[in-house]
Amino acid sequence: MLGAVPGRVKRAPGPQRTLDATPDSQHASGIMSQLANQIAVVTGAGRGIGRAIALKFAAEGADVVVVSRTAENSEKVASEIRALGRKAWAHALDVADGASVNSTVEKILAECGRVDILVNNAGVTRDGLLMRMSDADWDVVLNTNLRGAFLITRAFSRAMLKQRTGRIINVASISGLIGNAGQCNYSASKAGLVGFTKAAAREFAARGVTVNAIAPGFIETDMTSVLKPELREVVLKQIPLGAFGQAEDIAHGALYLAAASGRYVTGQVLTVDGGMVM
Ligand SMILES: NC(=O)c1ccc[n+]([C@@H]2O[C@H](COP(=O)([O-])OP(=O)(O)OC[C@H]3O[C@@H](n4cnc5c(N)ncnc54)[C@H](OP(=O)(O)O)[C@@H]3O)[C@@H](O)[C@H]2O)c1
Repeated sequence: MLGAVPGRVKRAPGPQRTLDATPDSQHASGIMSQLANQIAVVTGAGRGIGRAIALKFAAEGADVVVVSRTAENSEKVASEIRALGRKAWAHALDVADGASVNSTVEKILAECGRVDILVNNAGVTRDGLLMRMSDADWDVVLNTNLRGAFLITRAFSRAMLKQRTGRIINVASISGLIGNAGQCNYSASKAGLVGFTKAAAREFAARGVTVNAIAPGFIETDMTSVLKPELREVVLKQIPLGAFGQAEDIAHGALYLAAASGRYVTGQVLTVDGGMVM
């Protein structure tokens, strides 16, 4: 039985709330860019999936705040976004460091005025069998993948709830849905992110802020390039569509959730995995 939580955001009384423009009305109004006039923050955007999401959002008209661990990678992607004619801001940040998260989010809100879309994508792996897993490998994965998403979401939540509109997208993993041997730390962090997504979706819904997760399968990025060819072969056999995914496949899913197309979707996990989980 779900109990009411003290201080929980209550649904405003009165008539039905007006949602954002529908995809159809957006189209009819002649706005072809799906994210025109939107400001997005993407963490872990220096490479891989985060970079693909940041570039996709910029191509659809959004201005983008690029956050990654290193200044070098965030600056590089910010330049790519500027080359597309959009505004971009680059920040180097360890998402697991609470004090740095709070000061960076303050800076971002001062620079941008507001944030419409937040993608919690920063993530790491430290794979190994449970029996031999070190405390450090457990901590860095949980702190980056789960605590990081909590810290950033909390820091942006006041501004988003005040706006009464916003999209939060958490990049989870199919490892968090079905588990993966050798990834107890990673699977726990991603399963935690799914629970976090659903609870936050319930808290924020009354203020028009949606919270969803994407669970990628095996996507070709630096994270998976370290896997041995034998292991890649084993994984490939488990993918019904018979191919590894590309970072752009996840960016398409993120765009669906961030744009008007996703306005009536919250608390969901969009699995993009070539059919591995069904
Ligand atoms: N690739 C897959 O098959 C797959 C499958 C399921 C889920 N995912 C998830 O998708 C997300 C992106 O994965 P990916 O494959 O694109 O990984 P990736 O190529 O290794 O890139 C990871 C990104 O996260 C950033 N990052 C790492 N730790 C950080 C920290 N503490 N603070 C801030 N930024 C940090 C990195 O920053 P720098 O560039 O500055 O180093 C980098 O930009 C992760 O959450 C991952 O768990 C990936």
